[in-house]
Amino acid sequence: MENKVVIVTGAAKGIGRAIALKMAEAGCLGLVINDLRIDEYAESLAKEAQAYGVNVLLMAGDMSKEEDVKKLIDITTEKWNRLDVMINNAGIAKANNLFDTSTEDWDQVISVNMRSAFLGMKYAAAYMKDHGGGSIINMGSIAGITGGSTSPDYGASKAGILALTKYGAKFLAKYKIRVNALAPGTINTEMIKRNFENLEPEELQERLSAIPMGRMGEPEEVAKVALFFASDLSSFITGDSLMITGGRNT
Ligand SMILES: NC(=O)c1ccc[n+]([C@@H]2O[C@H](COP(=O)([O-])OP(=O)(O)OC[C@H]3O[C@@H](n4cnc5c(N)ncnc54)[C@H](O)[C@@H]3O)[C@@H](O)[C@H]2O)c1
Repeated sequence: MENKVVIVTGAAKGIGRAIALKMAEAGCLGLVINDLRIDEYAESLAKEAQAYGVNVLLMAGDMSKEEDVKKLIDITTEKWNRLDVMINNAGIAKANNLFDTSTEDWDQVISVNMRSAFLGMKYAAAYMKDHGGGSIINMGSIAGITGGSTSPDYGASKAGILALTKYGAKFLAKYKIRVNALAPGTINTEMIKRNFENLEPEELQERLSAIPMGRMGEPEEVAKVALFFASDLSSFITGDSLMITGGRNT
């Protein structure tokens, strides 16, 4: 990752945090840590990343808002005159079933998850196309393939992201921009803990025993795949997604 500038959205916690640290460990030149707020989590992540000798920029911004995404790209490219990797990780999930999901819930999940990936891809690619290309990684989910089992909006938003990734890969290949997606299963973060806290013990057991490897994944195990897609290790791969699910595919 030498000489590469990387943006990770929604990076203060969970999978985004692990991805940001993995990019720092791999020796990127510049790392932009975005989240809704720059709080103690974002600041402690910045310190950990800086310990690898990486130049870090912390930027608050809501990735479902066009002006915030534009600002993120503008400030990054003004600082380094380059942008090599854009990781659209920011996302939310609600633990509401079909009947409990309001129109507002639906709009919020679709907007934070899917619109943010569209905006991140659009504005990152607009810069990359005139500056030698790059790699864009969108955060999908196994729920985008299976439909998911908790809320109706989450799987729909992630299926949209997988389609957006394929579209972006075809449209942007001529500019040397690759676009791929990660499709994690159950990963040990606050998002999944929030989703699991309302489950009965038998339901929880059922969810975990549906994973052939018999455990949740750790954020670092997703971050390793993000590094693969971010780097030249995947130089002939675009429009693809990789399941990181411990063998679960339903
Ligand atoms: N944890 C899982 O099992 C799992 C599985 C598949 C996919 N994912 C996806 O991975 C991504 C990260 O999930 P996580 O489990 O680490 O969640 P998390 O809730 O632990 O962390 C998500 C981070 O994104 C930030 N964020 C939320 N909305 C944002 C916005 N509009 N703009 C900027 N930042 C925002 C949050 O503040 C938080 O720091 C999400 O897109 C999620 O859908 C998670």
